[in-house]
Amino acid sequence: MLGLIIIALLGLQQAGVVAHGERSRRRLISSSEDEPCMRMNVYYHDILYNGENNGNATSAAATQPTALSRSVSINDTFFGQVIVFDDVVTAGQALASEPVARAQGFYFYDNKERLNAWFAFSLVFNSTAHKGTLNVMGADLIFNKTKDFSIVGGTGDFFMSRGIATVRTDSYEGLYYFRLHMDIKLYECYV
Ligand SMILES: *[C@@H]1O[C@H](CO)[C@@H](O)[C@H](O)[C@H]1NC(C)=O
Ligand SMILES: *[C@@H]1O[C@H](CO)[C@@H](O)[C@H](O)[C@H]1NC(C)=O
Ligand SMILES: *[C@@H]1O[C@H](CO)[C@@H](O)[C@H](O)[C@H]1NC(C)=O
Ligand SMILES: *[C@@H]1O[C@H](CO)[C@@H](O)[C@H](O)[C@H]1NC(C)=O
Repeated sequence: MLGLIIIALLGLQQAGVVAHGERSRRRLISSSEDEPCMRMNVYYHDILYNGENNGNATSAAATQPTALSRSVSINDTFFGQVIVFDDVVTAGQALASEPVARAQGFYFYDNKERLNAWFAFSLVFNSTAHKGTLNVMGADLIFNKTKDFSIVGGTGDFFMSRGIATVRTDSYEGLYYFRLHMDIKLYECYV
């Protein structure tokens, strides 16, 4: 099962009631970085299309890198290349473990000096546990051990949610597969 913790009102402020269709929700805002109102640990699997793996590839380059990507000593920085993905997100490390969501969006390489990317995607949940989306974006400083993406909003079960996804590379197998561990912490929840 998902490591999903809904922390009770301890350390959380309640502010207002938001009408959502016929149901009303309570708004929980965490007052502490260590006490998110919801937490989820998941794995993101990116299998890049290499011209042959059309059976299992879930991401593909939509553009070539720009010529600028070969202009500096680090060759190649892929500067300007856009990768579009519909990646599987699982509860466990293994690609075959329980699927939790799809990550649908893109990243592009945005630094000509070194490898560096920028991500924007929706986590699309369509399971018995959760239905809805969390919308995520931020800079992936590839050589930083961890990076924080912003969770800028949500829909459905994650109505109006906001938070931080702390991401680290869990595995990297050549150019065509990498796995990210994502520690999703919501600090604003409507329950
Ligand atoms: C995807 O399939 C190819 C065979 O087409 C295989 O070599 C590769 O290991 C698979 N990738 C993953 C991440 O399972
Ligand atoms: C980068 O690699 C390309 C071929 O892959 C080569 O033509 C180019 O000279 C290289 N650039 C530098 C700065 O090493
Ligand atoms: C969500 O899951 C249901 C049940 O498996 C399926 O019928 C529906 O097409 C799915 N929706 C999306 C957007 O994938
Ligand atoms: C880079 O990593 C350090 C240590 O893991 C972390 O404190 C810092 O917030 C990271 N920087 C960014 C921009 O994510």
